[in-house]
Amino acid sequence: MRAVDIIQKKRDGGELSSEEIAYLIQGYSRGDIPDYQISAWAMAVYFQGMNARETGDLTLEMAKSGDQVDLSPIAGIKVDKHSTGGVGDKTTVVLAPLVAAAGVPVAKMSGRGLGHTGGTIDKLESISGFSVEMDRERFFAQVGEIGAAVIGQSGNITPADKKLYALRDVTATVESIPLIASSVMSKKIAAGADAIVLDVKTGSGAFMKTLDDSIALAQAMVDIGTHLGRNTVAVISDMDQPLGFGIGNALEIKEGIETLKGQGPKDLEEVSLILGSHMLVLGGKARDEAEARAILKSHIADGTALEKFKQMVDAQSGDVTQIESPDKLPAAKRLIEVKAAAAGYVDGIQAEEIGIAAMLLGAGRETKESVIDLAVGIYLTKKVGDAVAAGETLAVLHVNDAAEDKVAEAESKVIEAYRISSSPVVPPPLVYALVTKDGVTRY
Ligand code: URA
Repeated sequence: MRAVDIIQKKRDGGELSSEEIAYLIQGYSRGDIPDYQISAWAMAVYFQGMNARETGDLTLEMAKSGDQVDLSPIAGIKVDKHSTGGVGDKTTVVLAPLVAAAGVPVAKMSGRGLGHTGGTIDKLESISGFSVEMDRERFFAQVGEIGAAVIGQSGNITPADKKLYALRDVTATVESIPLIASSVMSKKIAAGADAIVLDVKTGSGAFMKTLDDSIALAQAMVDIGTHLGRNTVAVISDMDQPLGFGIGNALEIKEGIETLKGQGPKDLEEVSLILGSHMLVLGGKARDEAEARAILKSHIADGTALEKFKQMVDAQSGDVTQIESPDKLPAAKRLIEVKAAAAGYVDGIQAEEIGIAAMLLGAGRETKESVIDLAVGIYLTKKVGDAVAAGETLAVLHVNDAAEDKVAEAESKVIEAYRISSSPVVPPPLVYALVTKDGVTRY
């Protein structure tokens, strides 16, 4: 077999065999096939696409390229949740304890943030002492004992995807549905999930800006999960504005705690309940979404979800007093109010711009090496649909040591992110569609 023939076949619209896909990915992993040939192949896939079988094969090859976590020592159906990345998305912080309180084991590996989107691991590290590293035995033991553990991606998970993603990033081949779908799903499969709930974001702050593209990505991922024997559903949720009010690590943990107490922002609570309901159904703890929602709400109301979070924080060496008194979490030294220039109604909040503004303040990483400030970020005081008066506060910047030019740039980004209309605005739906192996339901 020769890489050049496989590239040519895909370039001309052919269907690659399982052996050809294995040859490319294994050869690339070993270093036998060079970056320039894989770049050409990725561009051919970008233009010609891949069918469900090819995409499934690519996923499996990447999943097999490194460690594969065997979660079978943990009893029960292990349901993973994955978000395609949003701004202010702290649903994992809410869902890990909430779903665990309802009896579905959560053995979750999460990532760090890069660019305008945050990462769950960074958020959790704003709790003093919280450890995101543990060996496999301790990880399993914690999930067995308290039902939930969230750790950083350890070991050598999907090295072929890591290499290919870095290459796609610099060859303009990221935005390909089969390549994104196989990249995401390879990590979920390698991490050992029995079932998967995907939160596919759509809108200005998402990878996929249109509903149709988001649904197509969701369908590709659901097809892969189904093909590989993992029950998979995808919720298409809104990212035309950030989720909740807080963007920035400690600010997001505070909001997660409020939500676990039933006092969080309504949009965050609702998206968490929707995703959590699907996790309960796939985990065999509820017959349908309505029953699952009632179970989840009861765990918020009776305090068991918050208690579960405290147990998880304690087990991972975090300071539980910060969960009991969130004012003890890291806080910024300076608050700067960003005011509306004119009166009207908030018509849109460009999530990506808000994410970049938070990054400029130090909440996120410009490069993988950037050091983040856990206390800083942005708190939105107005969301889409809200009325604003001229001079009223739209958002508050939480600032520590960022250079003044960065603070000024962040401030202008926030102002630019807000679109104000002169007539009343109806807030967008939180969820647009559900994709399962049986098809697409649009709401
Ligand atoms: N996230 C991933 O993990 N992979 C992609 O290709 C795109 C987003």
